[in-house]
Amino acid sequence: MSQHICFIGAGNMATSLIGGLLANGHEATKITACDINLEQLQQLQTQFGIDISSDSVAAARAADVVMLAVKPQMMREVCSELSSLPANPDQLFISVAAGVPARAIDGWLGGERAIVRCMPNTPALVGLGASGLAANAKVDARQRDIAGQIMQAVGIAIWVEAESDLDAVTAVSGSGPAYFFYFIELLEAAGVELGLPRETAARLARQTALGAATMAQEQDVIRLREQVTSKKGTTEQAIISFQQDRLDQLVSNAAAAAHRRSLELARELTEE
Ligand SMILES: NC(=O)c1ccc[n+]([C@@H]2O[C@H](COP(=O)([O-])OP(=O)(O)OC[C@H]3O[C@@H](n4cnc5c(N)ncnc54)[C@H](OP(=O)(O)O)[C@@H]3O)[C@@H](O)[C@H]2O)c1
Repeated sequence: MSQHICFIGAGNMATSLIGGLLANGHEATKITACDINLEQLQQLQTQFGIDISSDSVAAARAADVVMLAVKPQMMREVCSELSSLPANPDQLFISVAAGVPARAIDGWLGGERAIVRCMPNTPALVGLGASGLAANAKVDARQRDIAGQIMQAVGIAIWVEAESDLDAVTAVSGSGPAYFFYFIELLEAAGVELGLPRETAARLARQTALGAATMAQEQDVIRLREQVTSKKGTTEQAIISFQQDRLDQLVSNAAAAAHRRSLELARELTEE
């Protein structure tokens, strides 16, 4: 990929993406980072050898891809600043801001822009992200490919059919890491209740989550569960207990609540 990529907002997500892109062979001279925090920028320049700029309009003008990586609440202001750039079908905007619809971004940028909206998640910070992507009608096949390659620098990237599906992506993978953190926390606490020292329960629960997630990459999860659930065994008793307590309903309710909040946030972020 030889595109010049300009990051507007050089925080956690941008830093992960820049690290991932460089690790995948992208040239440092083809990355520019812009941020209002000069100290942060200088640190990135030292760490990665990339170009930095405090003039986001000038930096974006020279870029093939503009990555919008500021907090959702800052998107309107940042995009309005960039609206002085002429509409250019060859220039791709990618937003990683949670909840901000592509239509709003396009409007704030002045219209007629090729925009990919992406919903990444926190494990992108360790190269194990899961991102959902949606493109507006101005994005061509080559630009989709570029966006996919950029997000794959920090994990997997999956295209959804409609932008509205990103609310479901948010409910599954966007908010999902916290569900697993919570489950690990609860399993640790259960271990302590059963008499284990906290440190022991914590190490066992975390390694078990890692092991299970690693096995689930290769095999069907239902089959994996059945394989470790022997008749009249200990795991079977735990699974029966989960089923009696309707864990399926709890998970479904939780995902539905995240989905509802995602829809609400989009409304709040685009209110005039
Ligand atoms: N981190 C994740 O795992 C994750 C997951 C999913 C989605 N996202 C999305 O990714 C985006 C960035 O998140 P993040 O965690 O990287 O946030 P972050 O660490 O706060 O980074 C945003 C950066 O943008 C800077 N900034 C603010 N206003 C700016 C402006 N007008 N021009 C240029 N830079 C500006 C901020 O500076 P100050 O700090 O000085 O304000 C900050 O350095 C968010 O929209 C979030 O929804 C992140």
